[in-house]
Amino acid sequence: MDHGDGFNTRAVHAGEIMDERFGNVVTPVFETATFMSPNRSADPYVDTSRGEPFLYTRWGNPTTQSLESKYASLDSVKYGIAFSSGMAAISSAVFGLCSRGDRILSINELYGQTHSFFSSYLQRFGIGCDFISLDQANSLSFNPRGYALLYLESIINPTLKVADLERTGSFCRENGIPLLVDATFASPYNQNPSAFGASVVLHSGTKYISGHSDVTLGLAGMNNRDIFDRIQAVRRTTGPVPDPLQSYLAARGMKTIGLRVEKQNRVAMDLARFLSQHRKVVRVHYPGLKESPYHEIARKVLRGYGGMVSFEVAGGLSGARKFMASLKVPAVAASLGGVESLVTLPVETSHSSIPPDERKAMGIEDGLVRFSCGIEDSQDLIDDIDSALSLL
Ligand SMILES: Cc1ncc(COP(=O)(O)O)c(C=O)c1O
Repeated sequence: MDHGDGFNTRAVHAGEIMDERFGNVVTPVFETATFMSPNRSADPYVDTSRGEPFLYTRWGNPTTQSLESKYASLDSVKYGIAFSSGMAAISSAVFGLCSRGDRILSINELYGQTHSFFSSYLQRFGIGCDFISLDQANSLSFNPRGYALLYLESIINPTLKVADLERTGSFCRENGIPLLVDATFASPYNQNPSAFGASVVLHSGTKYISGHSDVTLGLAGMNNRDIFDRIQAVRRTTGPVPDPLQSYLAARGMKTIGLRVEKQNRVAMDLARFLSQHRKVVRVHYPGLKESPYHEIARKVLRGYGGMVSFEVAGGLSGARKFMASLKVPAVAASLGGVESLVTLPVETSHSSIPPDERKAMGIEDGLVRFSCGIEDSQDLIDDIDSALSLL
């Protein structure tokens, strides 16, 4: 069926399995570990990755395939592969593309678990990693020769710096080096890294894609069949497939990703504007603000500036602790991208293991608060933030 090209139309209809024999409107949860084999149907439903009927859920499952097709459509890639978590997607992609003796090149400002995977875990498998800063990557101040891949995050946690995917994407293409991009913070609504030449796009589906803080899931997207086969082979072998119910919940969430992220972009902009005028706020990081050093890059590579805002409150660490304890609307909790606003203190959570001077060099001051905007009304969040700031 031709559903039209609009993002929200694809979000609702792409990948859906509607079987006329049942007349179902919503893709069912195929909560089955195994499938009849051989399948004697004259017209069996097939696992598109193999062109054969489904066999075993670790290899493929109709509900998960439906999610993968919906995701692929929204991220403008040919193939999507779903995993049991974002980290499963990231580790499987790297293991799929690298062998013993390879070295990879990555930016330093990574999600913490990805950083430790690259800096220590990969070494046990004979794969090395060198790090550069995002600004070095953006200014192409690195030599790509000899690396098996370049790894970027397209919006950096928690400073919300933005990767220049247009520049790095064409540089990697010219140099024949695969570019892997974790675009979790942007979400497929705000950015499709494959359009800039990314070979593999990665998402923690736990965040904007599922969008309700009730699913743990990962996704990898790509256009190249060989890369798809290699990453798919890792998933089959090591087994980090999502449970079909998780796939169903993620696909259900994805139907509204356009509505949610559109609103989250707006709420974040409202908060960033309010915070940047507040006398108890030292600094605001948001790529949508014209004064952000990453605004021009963001304008090139993002359709929306995202739902994450971070800001430094007066009074350093004790100010930030007091501020967070006084908030009434958002929960203090890790993760992001859900319909409910969440707030964290990076120096006490995601970046606690980094020495203070290194943290400062990365722009992460003690009083920095990270705010994941939900879909609440901006004014309610602003009132809540304002009254918490007034106590500092
Ligand atoms: C940017 C980014 N990438 C990857 C991950 C890992 O995803 P998951 O927790 O689904 O394994 C996270 C988790 O917070 C993240 O923020």
